[in-house]
Amino acid sequence: MRLRATAADELVTAARAARARAYAPYSRYRVGAAVLTRAGGIYAGCNVENATYGATLCAERSAIAAMVSAGDSDPVACAVVTAGPKPGTPCGICRQVLVEFAREMTLVLVAEDAKGRIVARRSDRVSRLLPHAFGLSTRK
Ligand code: THU
Repeated sequence: MRLRATAADELVTAARAARARAYAPYSRYRVGAAVLTRAGGIYAGCNVENATYGATLCAERSAIAAMVSAGDSDPVACAVVTAGPKPGTPCGICRQVLVEFAREMTLVLVAEDAKGRIVARRSDRVSRLLPHAFGLSTRK
């Protein structure tokens, strides 16, 4: 599904706002994400780190959890905003979590500089970043 430019911009705006709220005192690597659902809902999330490190929650999974918690489903796109110079890509665990909900989800990957200005932006597909994703044979 092709994402309308205005929808993509709105999604990026939500992800940037979430990035500003990231809790990342250990890595100082702030990430914001926002998913857009087929029904038009937008759900944002940020990374939430933990002193044990391993309990850290990534921004993408935080956004997906917000969508599920709100009772929505069917995400069509996910914006992810990180520090630059190049946009980051979702980690392996987050790719698998995104695939769980939509294999053909569009990713809008954005990088900001230290002043919060957008310095790079590109699009991709989860299916390209995670080919041969794990799936239980009992699922469709
Ligand atoms: N992080 C995300 O939020 N999303 C990713 O896809 C990659 C990594 C966070 C986790 C941690 O708080 C910080 O970035 C550094 O790894």
